[in-house]
Formats: sequence, structure tokens, C-alpha cells
Amino acid sequence: MAVLNVAVLASGRGSNLQALLDRAAVAAGAGFRIALVVSDQPGAAALERAATAGVSAVAIEPAAGERRAAFDARLSVVLERAGAELICLAGFMRILGPAFVDRWRGRLINIHPSLLPAYPGLDTHARVLRDGGVRRHGCTVHWVRSEVDAGPVIAQAAVPVRPGDDPATLAARVLSAEHGLYPEVVAAIAAGRLSDPGGIGPGGPVQPTMSSAEKK
Ligand code: GRF
Repeated sequence: MAVLNVAVLASGRGSNLQALLDRAAVAAGAGFRIALVVSDQPGAAALERAATAGVSAVAIEPAAGERRAAFDARLSVVLERAGAELICLAGFMRILGPAFVDRWRGRLINIHPSLLPAYPGLDTHARVLRDGGVRRHGCTVHWVRSEVDAGPVIAQAAVPVRPGDDPATLAARVLSAEHGLYPEVVAAIAAGRLSDPGGIGPGGPVQPTMSSAEKK
């Protein structure tokens, strides 16, 4: 069976990356491998996790004054060179522009800590608790579109909101659900059981990306 080449983009601690690395390493026939980890933060723990797992890891920092489109084009070139067939955003804290999102449409997914469309954006756990009376919270994996935290939902995992929860206890419960959900979704995509309803999908034709130098 062909093994899907996955790239993971992460800015921080990388616990979802770890769940993906673990699944790729231990599950016989996971159907995917982590080919590359990219961070926009050179000190990100995610890069260390990749190195520990023997996976290529690279920091790509925005240069001073660099426009989003130019950064995104550099990122695309690195992903193409790594042969990425699916890109998993896992706590990647940079907004990716429409050209990047279109370029990777059908091959670009994100995990978000809420049951979308409820609670897009940041600080989801604190907002859930502040609202009061919310009984179910959770996480969502979705195909990425240009609008942040939008795009067709692939799968969700719900957890209860318990009396006495604070943002940290609720976050830990959701994170644990994330670690189960994300590898399941990636394995299902690798097995060809899921595809973006509006995209060409892994295995479809690859559109070459022009680097900013080539465009001039
Ligand atoms: C997760 O909660 C994920 O849903 C969100 O960012 C967080 C990343 O955590 N997009 P980690 O770096 O994977 O531990």
C-alpha cells in the first residue's frame, strides 16, 4: 500500500504532532509517514519532537517586512521539495493566505479546539466557561479554507464540560480528545476514505508552485 507523505506545521509545544508521529511509528499499516515538520518559531518544542523521532524539521521564519504571500510561497516550495501530499496544521499560529490555501486545497487540514462552528478563534476553553451553561465542548478537524477556522468539517470529538472546570482542566480534556481524533482522520485520508468535497485531494494532480523569484 502506498504511504502518504504528511507534513506537519506547528508553532508551539507539538502535542498533536507527537500523536501523529506516534501513530505513524507504531501502528502497522498507518498508511502515512511524517515526512517533514515546519515551524515558524525556531525554538518550538515541536521541532525537538521531530528531531527526537528522526523526522526532518525546519524553522521558516518570516523575514523583516516580508509579505504574507512571499512567506507562503517559500513555505510551499519547502513542502513540495519534501513531497508533501497532505499538510496538517497543528497549532500553527500564522494565517496562511488565499494563494497558499488554494494551492494546497484538498491536501490541507487543521485541528481546532472547539466544536465548530461554535467558538472559532482563540481562547476557546475560557470562552466556553465564561458563557456558562455549555455542556459539550470538543475539537474539530476540518479542510482549510481562507476564512480562519472555516472549511468543511471532517470529524469532531466531544467532551463534557464538568462543574468545577477551569480553562486548564477543560483544555486538557479537549487536548486528549484531539490526540485521538487527528491521527484517526489522517489515517482515514491516507486510506482514501475521506476527501475534501471541494478539492482535488491527496493523490490528485500537483500544481507546481512558482517561487517568488520565478514569478518576477
Ligand atoms: C491545539 O489545541 C489545537 O487544537 C490548536 O492548537 C493547539 C496545539 O497544541 N490548533 P499542540 O501544539 O499540538 O500541543
